[in-house]
Amino acid sequence: MDFFSYDQGAYCCEGIPLDRIAAEFGTPAYVYSEKTVTDHYQKLDRALAPVPHLICYSVKTNSNLAILAHMARLGSGFDIVSGGELYRVLKAGGDASKVVFAGVGKTTDEMRRSIESGIFMFNIESLPEAEALSGVARDMNRDVRVAVRINPDVSPDTHHYITTGKKETKFGLPIDRAMDVFRAIGRMDRLIPTAVHCHIGSQITEIDPYKETLEKIGPLIQQLRDEGFDIRYFNLGGGLGIIYKEESPQTAARFAESILPMVKPMNVELLMEPGRFVVGNAGVLLTRVLYIKDTGSKCFAIVDAGMNDLVRPTLYGAYHEILPVRQKSAKKKTYDVVGPVCETGDFFAKDRSIDEMHAGDLLAIKSAGAYGFVMASNYNTRPRPPEIWVSGGRPRIARRRETYEDLVSAECDGIESVLSDRTTFGG
Ligand code: LLP
Repeated sequence: MDFFSYDQGAYCCEGIPLDRIAAEFGTPAYVYSEKTVTDHYQKLDRALAPVPHLICYSVKTNSNLAILAHMARLGSGFDIVSGGELYRVLKAGGDASKVVFAGVGKTTDEMRRSIESGIFMFNIESLPEAEALSGVARDMNRDVRVAVRINPDVSPDTHHYITTGKKETKFGLPIDRAMDVFRAIGRMDRLIPTAVHCHIGSQITEIDPYKETLEKIGPLIQQLRDEGFDIRYFNLGGGLGIIYKEESPQTAARFAESILPMVKPMNVELLMEPGRFVVGNAGVLLTRVLYIKDTGSKCFAIVDAGMNDLVRPTLYGAYHEILPVRQKSAKKKTYDVVGPVCETGDFFAKDRSIDEMHAGDLLAIKSAGAYGFVMASNYNTRPRPPEIWVSGGRPRIARRRETYEDLVSAECDGIESVLSDRTTFGG
């Protein structure tokens, strides 16, 4: 079911024309559909229903409080990678006992706060990190559940920046050292090794890398149990791919059909950390054409969103479909769709055939719900766009547009003393 679609020539989110949203909230703006989020979460949840499982939505993908609160209402857990993400989850009413904490560089302060909040478990990525966690847990007199992130050395066919399951990446511990790592952690104070964690990459559209992972992890879990480790959970990470262009990723149902026969005999509770699958196609970036610049060799559509708002095209060469909000012309033209930022890399599409457009037209850059706003920056001192949450037939501001004051507020305290120092030392 697509909750973004044309209705009487206007591109709509849950039936609301996006030009109405642009008129009310301005551009650029991120627009999210609650129904899409619900639909995607529930598809996966239902597909995994034959086994005990917990979906831990990957907060890094889109951490707006409205989305987190909605995920919490749906019963989701959360996968976090920082103290900041824990703060957001708690603020949004998320249940700490459903939080798993991943990431290669957790600080002891982040560990302490997470233990205090009563999170479900830590995904350990190295022995020094395990030792640090053990120290914090000992000081706090608390037992802590841990998963060890195993790098199964599989290579999904995805962008090399977002593949994580090969042994050359910084993530996890090599599978051939897994037993030794568990033994070492088993000897550490206050740590309870109870799970194996893998996350092999992102935007994975094939099932084989997951199957290969399970083929490797099944025997490992057996071996761990034979040695007396009480392994209760297996966390398969995230990574489920979505359609940006012509991909044909596995549906949740097909995914479950393929992996559950391998998961069942493991006799574990299955955890998953999907991000993109849940929110990727639940959001668009709405932008307005400022100018059409035809240089003879190229036609540029210069829009009011920039690479600071959505960095994926330039960072990964990612494809995002671009649609006119009002279908006006049957004529197509080839454009480079670019932003106002002073970088050649500031583009959303190159040599793309799109309905002919004019200054003032609105465009929807699709599939921008995942790794969109969260990767936005203030480069060129550009206020970040608002995030509009469409639910119950109404658009609401889930995050207001930043102001110029916001952009300098953290510097304002400092500026006084910087200026007064200059006076003291003679400028
Ligand atoms: N779990 C772990 C440990 C992760 O590192 C990630 C993503 C996820 C779960 C969620 O993965 P997903 O289901 O969304 O594929 N910025 C890049 C993607 C980076 C992914 C980082 N890790 C992009 O825009 O494509």
